[in-house]
Amino acid sequence: MIQQPDAVTSGQSETIVPHGGHLVNRIATTDQRREFLEQADSLPRVQLDERATSDLELIAIGGFSPLSGFMEQADYQQVVTNMHLENGLPWSIPITLSVTETVADPLREGSLVRLDDPAGRFVGVLDLTQKYHYDKTQEVLQVYRTEDDKHPGVQVVYNQGSVNLAGSIWLLQRQPHSQFPNYQVDPAQSRAQFQEKGWKTVVGFQTRNPIHRAHEYIQKCALETVDGLFLHPLVGATKSDDVPADVRMRCYEIMLEHYYPQDRVILAINPAAMRYAGPREAIFHALIRKNYGCTHFIVGRDHAGVGDYYGTYDAQRIFAEFAPGELGITPMMFEHAFYCMRTQGMATNKTSPSKPGERIHLSGTKVREMLRRGELPPPEFSRPEVAAELARAMRTAVEV
Ligand code: ADX
Repeated sequence: MIQQPDAVTSGQSETIVPHGGHLVNRIATTDQRREFLEQADSLPRVQLDERATSDLELIAIGGFSPLSGFMEQADYQQVVTNMHLENGLPWSIPITLSVTETVADPLREGSLVRLDDPAGRFVGVLDLTQKYHYDKTQEVLQVYRTEDDKHPGVQVVYNQGSVNLAGSIWLLQRQPHSQFPNYQVDPAQSRAQFQEKGWKTVVGFQTRNPIHRAHEYIQKCALETVDGLFLHPLVGATKSDDVPADVRMRCYEIMLEHYYPQDRVILAINPAAMRYAGPREAIFHALIRKNYGCTHFIVGRDHAGVGDYYGTYDAQRIFAEFAPGELGITPMMFEHAFYCMRTQGMATNKTSPSKPGERIHLSGTKVREMLRRGELPPPEFSRPEVAAELARAMRTAVEV
């Protein structure tokens, strides 16, 4: 097993070491880009879906360090069966470029492949080193813990091609994000920002839902014990009934304006796609935030879960499957938080003596139903300004 230090001292302030020791950078240099552009029309093409496009981006900017490309078979197998890369580093989610036999057949190992995004734009290059078949049932059972094709992550695996293309990649160019250019903070930048602010400990927060008071509560409980909070909403592909990223980002802006200390919080987008892999994805989410420079990572109830595929705390228990220090980022676990009418504040089972009838918590589905009926979620669940923004977004969506 590769031993990694948890932190190094660079200059005056401490920063956490990226996963595997250094931050990967696979953004083509100006010279490389010129060469790739010259070859653009002669290279074989593969069109990426939305998820592979975000994976390409995350590999290139170092968010998936130590990965420098889509996984070869040895890494893939180790990741699927025992949550480690072949070199012994923890890694819990396969990062693969899966294509159909028809697409894979004409491609030659040892050659370059042009990668286009879903809109057909040339976005990257793959140095194809391997093509291999893989076992979808094994992958879904191990990674998603179910083979039910109603699970949105499982569905993606079943619908994708049966051949994985592997090898290092280059991102042709770092483009400003089309929707959130002001919140596009790459790992090298977030690390620099943490240093500038003098933060030695930073807690990362993953989310794909509109911010509610339980989120705010666990973020602030965590912030009480560390120097900074890195709010890192996921803006890559999500399932169709999740609230769109622009609405979620507006809710965050509102919260930062009214309810957070500006100098303790950084809001930035995570370009990753959601897998809904629950426990396995919690480890993956933590490793990504380690690469962004976080020392701590919040894992609450049913992290990255969907439906009732995972137990409420499975995503916390999985951290115990790794040796102490092996992940190199510290999880901060929180029980299910709710508004407690008896103590008149946010609480969990650990801090409140209340009975179930004295607790206010709404599921995402329930909130969406209320909004559709034109009702606002109560202030015990959502800050009123956020509730108003969600209602406004719902009205606009209906009118469109
Ligand atoms: S997730 O798919 O990104 O995990 P969500 O945005 O709802 O979904 O959750 C973000 C984080 O907040 C996760 O760590 C999740 O476990 C935690 N969380 C969400 N709701 C609660 C709650 N009521 N109590 C405790 N933790 C919560």
